[in-house]
Amino acid sequence: MNNPEVRIVEVSARDGLQNEKTLLPPDVKIALIDRLSTTGLKTVEATSFVSPRWVPQLADADEVFRNIRKVPGVAYPVLVPNEQGYRLARAAGAVEVSVFTAASEAFNRANINASIAESLQRFQPVLDDANAEGVKVRGYVSTALGCPYQGDVPVADVVNVAKRLYDMGCYEISLGDTIGVGTPAKARAMLHAVSQEVPMQALAVHFHDTYGQALANILACLEEGVRVVDSAVSGTGGCPYAKGATGNVASEDVVYMLHGMGMQTGVDLDLLVATGAWLSAQLNKPTASRVTKARTMA
Ligand code: HMG
Ligand code: MG
Repeated sequence: MNNPEVRIVEVSARDGLQNEKTLLPPDVKIALIDRLSTTGLKTVEATSFVSPRWVPQLADADEVFRNIRKVPGVAYPVLVPNEQGYRLARAAGAVEVSVFTAASEAFNRANINASIAESLQRFQPVLDDANAEGVKVRGYVSTALGCPYQGDVPVADVVNVAKRLYDMGCYEISLGDTIGVGTPAKARAMLHAVSQEVPMQALAVHFHDTYGQALANILACLEEGVRVVDSAVSGTGGCPYAKGATGNVASEDVVYMLHGMGMQTGVDLDLLVATGAWLSAQLNKPTASRVTKARTMA
């Protein structure tokens, strides 16, 4: 494949934990991020500055963000839903943030209590401030391959929201299959359509693995030209406002597939597997990564 370099955006410390009912102490989250920082990953999403009532697990965002080791060359973006979250993130020292909306109205309402148009309006001051302060902003589009309330989501709606976020100044748009219902041809067609309006270099894919399609979807999107993939060690993850959705595709499995195809990530798979196994022990859950299962079987 042309351009064999792929950047992995590791989302376990945010997406991976946000739906965990048992509150993990901040020390464990800090240890997770510090471990991930030693694996060669270039982007480690750290936490969310959202309402603690909406996502109690990440109520310690400030403490976690202040205490992680910031390794030079590694970016630590954090989610912000509004200006209030942006200011809290900045006060904690964040220099990269992510805003998030969706391609379907009902999910967006359930997730951030706003219509799509209202959410974009809320992001404008965030982008204005970020621009003035030299802060990078990533944009997420959820429900890009299906919505838990609406069902099918027209591709044109995904394209419109992605383009709006890009035009507002997001440097990268991550296309989320929030509930993991997509299949390869559909994923590829969606990415292709978005890439007609937003340059492919500014696109990322974010697949949950509910139906076991995530790796196949990623391969189809790599063939279409995407070179940024979101994933979470141990296959952790899920949105509390997307009922029935399971974890993200496991980073270990993505890296194994990419390296097997001769693509480069800069990530040390052994260290990633060790971190995934450590996280599943902390969560007291079996890992969802097939690679970690295979490598750690007695
Ligand atoms: P709201 O209740 O409409 O907010 O929630 P509000 O503006 O009316 O404020 C209500 C209270 O929240 C106030 O406090 C605010 O101060 C507080 P009170 O006066 O009642 O004590 N508040 C905040 N506190 C801390 N940080 C903030 C903040 N903002 C308001 N930033 C809101 C609206 C957006 C805040 C809420 O809906 C929310 O926080 N939602 C976050 C949901 C979330 O994090 N979902 C998961 C992430 S998205 C995802 O997982 C998908 C993704 O992975 C991609 C994919 O898979 O598709 C990215
Ligand atoms: Mg997600």
